[in-house]
Amino acid sequence: MRILAVASEAFPYVKTGGLADVVGALPLALTELGHDVVTLIPGYPQVLATLGPAEVVDRYGELYGGPARILQKHRAWGEAGWMVVDAPHLFDRPGHPYRQASGAPWDDEAFRFAALAVVAREIGLGRLAAFQPDVVHAHDWQTGLVPAYLALDGRMGPATVMTVHNLAFQGQFTPDWLGALGLPASSFTVAGVEYYGGIGFLKAGLAYADKLTTVSPTYARDIQQDLWGMGLQGLLAARAADLAGIVNGIDTVHWNPADDPFVRPGYDADRLALRGQHKQALQAALGLEVRGDVPLFVVISRLAWQKGMDVLLAAVPALVEAGGQLAVLGSGEADLEGGFEAAGTHHRGRVAVRLGYDEPLAHRLHAGGDAVLVPSRFEPCGLTQLYGLRYGCVPVVAATGGLIDTVVDADEAANGTGFLVEAGRTDRLIDGMRRAIAVWRDPPRWQALQRRGMMQDLGWRRPAEAYLRVFEAALAKR
Ligand code: ADP
Ligand code: GLC
Repeated sequence: MRILAVASEAFPYVKTGGLADVVGALPLALTELGHDVVTLIPGYPQVLATLGPAEVVDRYGELYGGPARILQKHRAWGEAGWMVVDAPHLFDRPGHPYRQASGAPWDDEAFRFAALAVVAREIGLGRLAAFQPDVVHAHDWQTGLVPAYLALDGRMGPATVMTVHNLAFQGQFTPDWLGALGLPASSFTVAGVEYYGGIGFLKAGLAYADKLTTVSPTYARDIQQDLWGMGLQGLLAARAADLAGIVNGIDTVHWNPADDPFVRPGYDADRLALRGQHKQALQAALGLEVRGDVPLFVVISRLAWQKGMDVLLAAVPALVEAGGQLAVLGSGEADLEGGFEAAGTHHRGRVAVRLGYDEPLAHRLHAGGDAVLVPSRFEPCGLTQLYGLRYGCVPVVAATGGLIDTVVDADEAANGTGFLVEAGRTDRLIDGMRRAIAVWRDPPRWQALQRRGMMQDLGWRRPAEAYLRVFEAALAKR
């Protein structure tokens, strides 16, 4: 099968969150299963800087306000393919891929992602003789127009699949964009791109794609309900038969404690004792008291309401009281950044906070931490708990969405891999951290917990097979 994936970010070229990890890793797994995958992403400066040798495979004289070139990365045998929309008037902007320095989205955000979608439509309809996809796989709201453009085009096109990574981000624009985005007036209906009186990019994708997926079975159910449907529950419930929940895998090459350039010496489930020196190094580097006799909790997260970071902040005094240490790596909302910094100052030696984005430190936190906290209010899948499982950093997570599907509570089941607590409640989080500390003080039991997590098959092969079944079902609808 030939698959064109389309997304606004992909590791290792550009990453703001888990979406990039998924878009970076899934194509490789599909390639290993014998399929031909090319992923199309915007040509942000960081993408062009890391792309490596590439050739121009197509040109547009005019693409939403300027010329564009389509670059294809040179591909060695067995590699997944990459294509980049090099449109400097839309994407050659410094800093964050989605936002201006002020934090506000760009005024021409609709054009930026419409341009990506137009290129995807054209490739989908066979513009490049060398790569004519059977299926186009669109990720998140930035690519919601892809299924819409393909469905609204008169020509016979590929099957389309829309994957929701986070329903909280929907891409809503005022109705006056309709003509400029090349959408026919007839598409401005409840069954089309119209969404609460405006244009909804994600809504459009969910309305027009042949099949829909999201990143865990529990989140697939959550988004059909009022609580987490975020306005789209009606549409999603109506399309329930076309909606599948597929838990994300992880890139087991980049996230491999036995062979991780950021974690030397490497370790595995049979050499857990080696984690002790990683913990010591981490404590020293972060200014924490270097002690083996206190449990170290770690957080690697966007500092956002979704992630329950306010819930965690309120639990910090109790965590310190219970004898724990906390190391936080993250960035996001200003009040949360300030709150964690203040907690770090107040509990010097017990709480360490690093604001910003730091990939090596993320790996070291998983290798040296005893437990990783993921207290999300809602979580489509979540990847940090999966990295935690793989690194023997036991997850303490909120019982919501994909966290329910990936962590088994050690106090509830003999095959436990972590701890689950009610979402959104500081008292329950404190209780969960205390339960984790109690087991941590019983090393044989804790190590059994670590090993069970580390032995799990968290790779992309099985999820990739599930995506293939969805792609086949989408093709069968044609
Ligand atoms: P989301 O995509 O909702 O932010 P996920 O758990 O799916 O949540 O993915 C988050 C990804 O971003 C993980 O790969 C995590 O390691 C990474 N990450 C988040 N914050 C940081 C940070 N401050 N520094 C480095 N990596 C981070
Ligand atoms: C989103 C979700 C996260 C998920 C990631 C990758 O960012 O918030 O839960 O793991 O996408 O699918």
